[in-house]
Amino acid sequence: MKVLAFNSSPRMEKGNTALILTPFLEGMREAGAEDELFYTRKLKINSCTGEFNCWLKNPGKCYQDDDMNLLYPKLREADILVFATPVYVDGVSGPMKNLMDRMLPLLQPFCELRDGHCRHPLREGNEHGKVVLVSNSGFWEMDNFDPLLVHMKAFCKNASRQFAGALLRPHGPELRRMMKMGLPIDDILEAAKEAGRQLVKNGKMSSETLKIISRELMPLETYVQILNTSFARASLQKL
Ligand SMILES: Cc1cc2nc3c(=O)[nH]c(=O)nc-3n(C[C@H](O)[C@H](O)[C@H](O)COP(=O)(O)O)c2cc1C
Repeated sequence: MKVLAFNSSPRMEKGNTALILTPFLEGMREAGAEDELFYTRKLKINSCTGEFNCWLKNPGKCYQDDDMNLLYPKLREADILVFATPVYVDGVSGPMKNLMDRMLPLLQPFCELRDGHCRHPLREGNEHGKVVLVSNSGFWEMDNFDPLLVHMKAFCKNASRQFAGALLRPHGPELRRMMKMGLPIDDILEAAKEAGRQLVKNGKMSSETLKIISRELMPLETYVQILNTSFARASLQKL
């Protein structure tokens, strides 16, 4: 089973998104999957220029010469795609959106009706693989992920892929701080690993496991206080 993962946090392995992505990939590896991880920050992925060259002039190929050329064969073969992104202004980060937009050459230009809805079928040679979202938000509430979930589910319908679920970590920055302080958060990291094992072994992740990953770290009011205190301290240090 081939797993292709992208982390679009500009903070890469030092970021909060990586804290959940790393054990998730470990779990999949333990269950026998082969994984490959790319940081979009290290890749050159231009934005789509919207000429539809990949549909009209040169079917299935983008005319742009950048790192998507390296990724297209991998995207075609992947059984599981993992999109890991921090919440940026209520959506995926910019580089992740570029990557998703540039997947257009994998689709045919023709429309078919599926459940009474227009869809572009995948071109031949593409796996109808699964998609997992791994995301991290600065705000406390779970509903900060709603726009990303709607987007990712719609993307899967359009790209003829199956949405396999999401590993969501609200008030994410606290996780690293609590880890550094030696506070008990191992259940969260273990649940991320377990979700990886489950996905490879059973083809799905249990809602109980995903709930542990998103569990409350502290009450909302405490989080707001800590956040404001640390911002105030950081501003004072600059004076
Ligand atoms: C440009 C920018 C926009 C952000 N927008 C949101 C947002 O809309 N909602 C939210 O909950 N957090 C938002 N955040 C906070 C990040 O999602 C949060 O800090 C996350 O843990 C960062 O993950 P990382 O360390 O992997 O990059 C934003 C951060 C940045 C830099």
